Amino acid sequence: MNEAEIFIAGANGQLGKALRARYPNANFADIDRLDITEEESIKNYDWSQTRIILNAAAYTNVDGAETAEGRIEAWKVNAHAVGYLSKVARDNDITILHISTDYVFDGTQDNHKEEEAFAPLSVYGASKAAGDIIVSLTPKFYILRTSWVIGEGRNFVRTMLELGKKGVDPTVVSDQIGRLTFTSELVRAIDHLLSNNLSFGTYNISNSGESKSWADITKTIFEIAGYQNSVNTITTDDYYTGKENTAPRPLNSTLNLTKIQTTSFTSTDWRDELRLYIEKELQS
Ligand SMILES: NC(=O)c1ccc[n+]([C@@H]2O[C@H](COP(=O)([O-])OP(=O)(O)OC[C@H]3O[C@@H](n4cnc5c(N)ncnc54)[C@H](OP(=O)(O)O)[C@@H]3O)[C@@H](O)[C@H]2O)c1
Repeated sequence: MNEAEIFIAGANGQLGKALRARYPNANFADIDRLDITEEESIKNYDWSQTRIILNAAAYTNVDGAETAEGRIEAWKVNAHAVGYLSKVARDNDITILHISTDYVFDGTQDNHKEEEAFAPLSVYGASKAAGDIIVSLTPKFYILRTSWVIGEGRNFVRTMLELGKKGVDPTVVSDQIGRLTFTSELVRAIDHLLSNNLSFGTYNISNSGESKSWADITKTIFEIAGYQNSVNTITTDDYYTGKENTAPRPLNSTLNLTKIQTTSFTSTDWRDELRLYIEKELQS
């Protein structure tokens, strides 16, 4: 695989940064250089050297998407723009790799397989589901469906480390269950699919290991960081009661990893990655 033939959209996000680190010679753009919602800019970009588009761009503010402006933006970035990139991929014989989310499901099943029917609960989930459908109509596509992403940027682990350091005992939901996905695991999976020319289609990817609630994950974060803080638990319903513009979340986010694992991909336990991540965070 020639890195110069890769184009990374959304290069400043958590995944975008990790992809740039893995493929330092790839072409890339953040929103300032290429706003993927501008159809003309996408059309006019010189795609002649590109063989693979990695779409790491997305509107990821799940609660923001429930507001009047956010709803429009989420659909623009997560659906319409994905259509523009898919058209470019189709017209130029480019492979498009897109990132999906467990939020396309309603979370009633405790283990999500790739082929589960979409039943999004939120605007974000619906807009991402639309993007998945559009990408899946291109001849050469990979969709990596993931959950609870942790990398370079604002994320749950960083928030809890900040609270822990300040001596706060946070109140965290105990009925949303899933596994973390470190961007390192996502990048490894992307590299695995591309470098082995695996069959096009949808693949689940998260770190492996026991599925846990956000509250239990917070306890593990504090344990690893050596913080003595307590973690108060609350149900999702109670947590969001009285709060405006909050998106409903799936209660079960665990992704079934069998499909990618049967392609000789070895998953890493989220707790091992979490330990490495926290050690690095505490050193910086
Ligand atoms: N984060 C999670 O927990 C999670 C879970 C499941 C799936 N995913 C999916 O994983 C993928 C990567 O997520 P992430 O955590 O890396 O997201 P992220 O950190 O929010 O990064 C998304 C990037 O997309 C950029 N972007 C937004 N609108 C754009 C536009 N119109 N044109 C170009 N770039 C634009 C953002 O730029 P600005 O910051 O300047 O807006 C940001 O740099 C997304 O597809 C997301 O839906 C994420």
